[in-house]
Amino acid sequence: MAKPAAIAFDAYGTLLDVASLGSELANLDGAARQRFVALWRSKQLEYTWLRTLMGRYVDFESVSGEALRYAMKSMDIGEKEFDSLMDGLRKIHCFPEVQSALAGLKSKVPRLAILSNGTPGMLTSALEANGIQGYFETVLSVDAVRRYKPDPRVYDMATRHFRARPRELLFVSSNGWDICGAASCGLTTAWCNRSRATFDELGYSPDIEVRSLDELAGKIDLVMT
Ligand code: LAC
Repeated sequence: MAKPAAIAFDAYGTLLDVASLGSELANLDGAARQRFVALWRSKQLEYTWLRTLMGRYVDFESVSGEALRYAMKSMDIGEKEFDSLMDGLRKIHCFPEVQSALAGLKSKVPRLAILSNGTPGMLTSALEANGIQGYFETVLSVDAVRRYKPDPRVYDMATRHFRARPRELLFVSSNGWDICGAASCGLTTAWCNRSRATFDELGYSPDIEVRSLDELAGKIDLVMT
């Protein structure tokens, strides 16, 4: 396996810690807040898949709002926190190792990008809130193709941007289904498996598996020549 020409990163769940959301809900205890955020996230993803199948694209900010309304209704949370929760999503925290991992990776592979469902506005605001926007030469958003991952047109955006063959690109995600989508388009993949999850049975497996992003630079040295 050759050294990658560039690395594209998924954003939510990979660089940005979805589980850190929901701190605005002071009335919920820790376990209820975890349940709430997990429901918000799972509906957010489900709606991206459903809307892509239905041919009814709305952007990720709208999808996130629709999923949030569902989660709030289903857990009887009053609507008054809606705006502050959406604001929290715009400033979502990155995982603690992200900054140093990006610095280490960039010294090996200078061309880094984001490839995400997020809108350009949401992504820019989250990257800026965490001071990591300077690592990326571009932010590729599904908004340009109006279809969500794992539609092949999304991963093709990275191939086109870098003018590379799919195999020359390394795609990094903590979402197993997202790794399968990228692998199905021929990209080399690295699965960041923080929670020791079971990999999806969709006919693919990641080329590299790490527990956190700071292991990735070392793994690239090991498996790539
Ligand atoms: C993203 C979703 C998968 O950032 O979390 O594209």
